Amino acid sequence: MPAFKRIGCGELRREDAGKRVELAGWVQRRRDHGGLIFIDLRDRTGLVQLVFDGGKDAEVFHQAERLRAEYVISVAGEVVERLEDRINPSLPTGEIEVVVQELKLLNGSRTPPFYIEDGIRVDENLRLRYRYLDLRRPEMYRRLYLRHKAVKIIRDYLDEAGFLEVETPMLTRSTPEGARDYLVPSRVHPGNFYALPQSPQLFKQLLMVAGVERYFQIARCFRDEDLRADRQPEFTQVDLEVSFVDQEDLFALLEGLMARLWKELHDYELPRPFPRLPYREAMERFGSDKPDLRFGMELADLSDLAGESEFRVFKSALEAGGVVKGLCVPGGGAFSRKQLDDLVALAVQLGARGLAWLIKEEEGWRSPIAKFFPEQLLERIGERLSAGKGDLLLFAAGPWESACRILGQLRLHLAPSELSPEPHFAWVVDFPLLEYNQEEKRYHSVNHPFTAPREEDLSLLEERPLEVRAQAYDLVLNGLEIGGGSIRIHRRPLQEKIFQLLGLSPEEAREKFGFLLEAFEFGAPPHGGLALGLDRLVAQLLGDDNIRQVIAFPKTAGASCLMTGAPAPVTPSQLQELHIAVERDGEAPAERPGGSR
Ligand code: AMO
Ligand code: AMP
Repeated sequence: MPAFKRIGCGELRREDAGKRVELAGWVQRRRDHGGLIFIDLRDRTGLVQLVFDGGKDAEVFHQAERLRAEYVISVAGEVVERLEDRINPSLPTGEIEVVVQELKLLNGSRTPPFYIEDGIRVDENLRLRYRYLDLRRPEMYRRLYLRHKAVKIIRDYLDEAGFLEVETPMLTRSTPEGARDYLVPSRVHPGNFYALPQSPQLFKQLLMVAGVERYFQIARCFRDEDLRADRQPEFTQVDLEVSFVDQEDLFALLEGLMARLWKELHDYELPRPFPRLPYREAMERFGSDKPDLRFGMELADLSDLAGESEFRVFKSALEAGGVVKGLCVPGGGAFSRKQLDDLVALAVQLGARGLAWLIKEEEGWRSPIAKFFPEQLLERIGERLSAGKGDLLLFAAGPWESACRILGQLRLHLAPSELSPEPHFAWVVDFPLLEYNQEEKRYHSVNHPFTAPREEDLSLLEERPLEVRAQAYDLVLNGLEIGGGSIRIHRRPLQEKIFQLLGLSPEEAREKFGFLLEAFEFGAPPHGGLALGLDRLVAQLLGDDNIRQVIAFPKTAGASCLMTGAPAPVTPSQLQELHIAVERDGEAPAERPGGSR
């Protein structure tokens, strides 16, 4: 045992009775009972009850009278068993208490702005403003602890598999991840900027050219994008890259890693292999490229049946090359008119032109559109969606992708409140290589421009590029994308063809990625990799739906730190040194950080 190990408050048990112990920690609360004072002492291991007996030791007792919440103290005393009727079964240390013989006040404390205890209901901004107090709460310490354990398991697992952890630069050039970069001005090169990495993508590929073969990194990444519950401007990836592998090798590696995490942290055996869903199938069945497989409610294609109806909206969508998709909401027949109107409004907000619905009643069907459908056609539609009496059927007509996505969103919105507690993993594979941007009238990489197409689709590159599938994959957990990657292009001619399709001239390509392209001329091995979103993964391990819960010092949705007040103005002389002129003085951030400045 390392020399600095101390016994923790929360570690004491009945077997320790009779021992003399020294403890240190924070006063959780003080209760005065005439000649007795009870104090709950907290450290990171938990709580233990201290007893000060005025009848036995008046001096220590009087010292204890002055203690307040969050004072820092150290004590020495004897562990004693509690009387049978004083046992607190809700506390792991509830069978004992420590009768204090010596007390030292190490520091006082201001009254904290919220109780330092689990389950508090406090505005998150206040928690972020005083994050160090928030983190003092046991449930937050448990989160830090689990994250630490998860990272250790990941490092050990990858080390056993022969991976080398290599750090890559933070001050670098823009990477092709597609979000906006955070830029850092260079003082010595006026007018030039570093970019903070959106991911170590280019460097890890260079490490493959360097012959490292198996690289990983717990890597900080920076992306200036719109933030949500599962997005932070700086976040952590478990980034890896491997030479001489195919997709299946990587899947086996990652499935083994997930299994190890769930086994060691939750003693749960993950069923393997994980299901694999081609992108098209995921969209068809779940209306999402990150399907939540914890519940059913799969979408169905009703284009053929809709075509038999007299409903103008459906027919014109089909004539325009679109589809009609349907979703069955069990029990949704009980929705009020207002609830139905809200659903339609939500669909419109999601980009639908409308949302048609049918309710299967005891006798027949209720719907504003039922009149366009012969009874027998309604029955066939009901059968296709496995509708029972009292169910609500929703329909979206339109272009394939938007019809799928809209119903996919409604599926999530209407999901059962009780979801399966087991983690539901899946690989989504066969993403399209390219997408067409209508506004810019050109192709974009769905992933990034180094993603390899599937061999068997290469012949489609010229004629039907949108049909080319990529060797790209996402790891999905409970409806969240927790990782993504691809097999990369390692040969020059194919890379050039892709750049050409993307409308990148050889000059532009050289300007952007010249160093990588040059490296590839020196014998690049075939390689591929993936990056896991560590924050999302740890949040899922803890059952949290917001990644701020598992990041020690996160930023708000407005990308500011309420504790330090970052981002903040800098002095004119700092700007001058960087050769930067600010057009308009920084506006006050939306949330006013506290802080002493
Ligand atoms: P990608 O951009 O898909 O791939 O990122 C990998 C994973 O990182 C997580 N992630 C985020 N987590 C929190 N906040 C964010 N703003 C954020 N953005 C992404 C997601 C995502 O699946 N270089 C490639 C990987 C590769 O091809 O090997 C990359 O970065 O969980
Ligand atoms: P409208 O003729 O546009 O008033 O629409 C008639 C009904 O069809 C309304 O209930 C609309 O919500 C619905 N509707 C309109 N457009 C669509 C669509 N693209 N998909 C599904 N339902 C639609």
